[in-house]
Amino acid sequence: MLDTARRLLAPSARSDVPPFMVMDVMAAAARIEAAGGHVIHMEVGQPAAPAPRTAIAAAKAALDKADIGYTQALGIPALRARISRHYAEMHGVRVEPERIVVTTGSSAGFILAFLSLFEPGDRVAVACPGYPPYRHILTALGCEPVLIPISEGTRWSIMIDALLAAHRRAPLKGVLVASPANPTGTMMRAAEFTALIAAAEGEGIRFISDEIYHGLDYAFPAETAAKFSDNAVIINSFSKYFCMTGWRVGWMVAPDALVRPIERLQQNLAISVPTLSQIAAAAAFDGRDEMEAVKHGYEENRHILVEGLPKAGLTRFLPVDGAFYLYADVSAFTDDSFDFAKRMLEEAGVAATPGIDFDPIDGKHFVRFCYAGSSADMREAVSRIGFWLHR
Ligand SMILES: Cc1ncc(COP(=O)(O)O)c(C=O)c1O
Repeated sequence: MLDTARRLLAPSARSDVPPFMVMDVMAAAARIEAAGGHVIHMEVGQPAAPAPRTAIAAAKAALDKADIGYTQALGIPALRARISRHYAEMHGVRVEPERIVVTTGSSAGFILAFLSLFEPGDRVAVACPGYPPYRHILTALGCEPVLIPISEGTRWSIMIDALLAAHRRAPLKGVLVASPANPTGTMMRAAEFTALIAAAEGEGIRFISDEIYHGLDYAFPAETAAKFSDNAVIINSFSKYFCMTGWRVGWMVAPDALVRPIERLQQNLAISVPTLSQIAAAAAFDGRDEMEAVKHGYEENRHILVEGLPKAGLTRFLPVDGAFYLYADVSAFTDDSFDFAKRMLEEAGVAATPGIDFDPIDGKHFVRFCYAGSSADMREAVSRIGFWLHR
C-alpha cells in the first residue's frame, strides 16, 4: 500500500487503548442465554434497580413541557445548588454551588479533570488493581499512568510511602484515589485518607478523589475529600447510588481556579450535559428513601456472599467494605483468571469479571463479582459456584 494511503487509514497511536475484557464475558453470556441457558450476571458493575421514581417523574414532566434546550456549560443552577446542599446534609461541609460542575457521568469528569490539571507527559499515580479507564483515559490524553501496586499489606489502598517512592523515581503531577474502590470494594479509613491527601498536596501532587461509590458504604462511612482540601478535585456520579447509569450524568467539585478552565473545556467539548438527565438528577435527591431500600438489598447480598462463598470454596477475598464488588483470590484454582471466568460461565452459568481487566500484574489470580443483582440470584450463584468447585 502507498505510504499516503496507509496514513489516511491509520488510527492515532493514542487511540490504541485496550478493550474492556468484561465485554467479552458479556458477549459469551449473551450467547449462552440465546441458546436457552440461564446466566447469573455478576460481571457488569451496574445496579439492577431503576432510577428513583422522583427522577423519572421529573424527566416525564420536563418532556411534556418540551423545553429541552442546551443548558449553561457548568450545569443547571438548580442542580448545582442541590448538589451543594447534598454536601452540607451528608458531610457537614460547605461546597459553594459555583465550584460544582455537572458532567456527562463521572467518565467525562475524568477527561475534564485530566485536561485542566495536566500537561502531556505528566505522570499520574493510580492504584493497581484499579478501574481501567483511569489509565486508558490518561494514556489517550498523552499523560503517563503510574501504577502503584496495592495489596493486603497496604489494606488495598495507596499508602503514603508507595506514593512518595514513585514521586522520587520521577515527579508525579497527580494521584487518583477511589474509596470505595472498583474492583476491590475496599475503602480507606478517614485517618489514612486525610494523611494521603496532605502528603500528596505537601509535595505538589494534585489529589483527585473518585467518589462515585459514595452512599454505598457498609463497613464504615466514606469521607469526601471536600472536607479536607479545597484543592482536591472530586468526581462523582448519579450512576451508582442513584441507579442512573444510562442517564449519563455526574458532577465534579473543582478548586476555584479550575472552574473557568473546566467551563471553557466543557463549552467546547460538549456544550452542555443532557438537559433531561440534569432535571432528573436534581429530583433524584428526593428519592433517597427508595435508594436506601436498594442499598439494603446490596447489604443483604453482601452478607449472602461473605457467608456463602467460603463454604462454596472461595475462601479468600478482600475486605468487602463498600460499592457492590467482591474481589476474590482464585489463585488456589488458576493462574489464568480469564479462563477461570470463562469456565465458570460456561459450566456453572455465573458471569464474573477476570481480574486482568483491572490489574495487568496480579489480576490473573483474581475475579470480581458484582452483587448489585437480586438476593435470589446471589443465593443461586453461591450454590452453583459451590457445586462447580466441588464437582
Ligand atoms: C470507579 C468508577 N469510576 C467511574 C465510573 C464511571 O461511571 P459513570 O461514567 O457512569 O459515572 C465507574 C463505572 O463503573 C467506576 O467503577
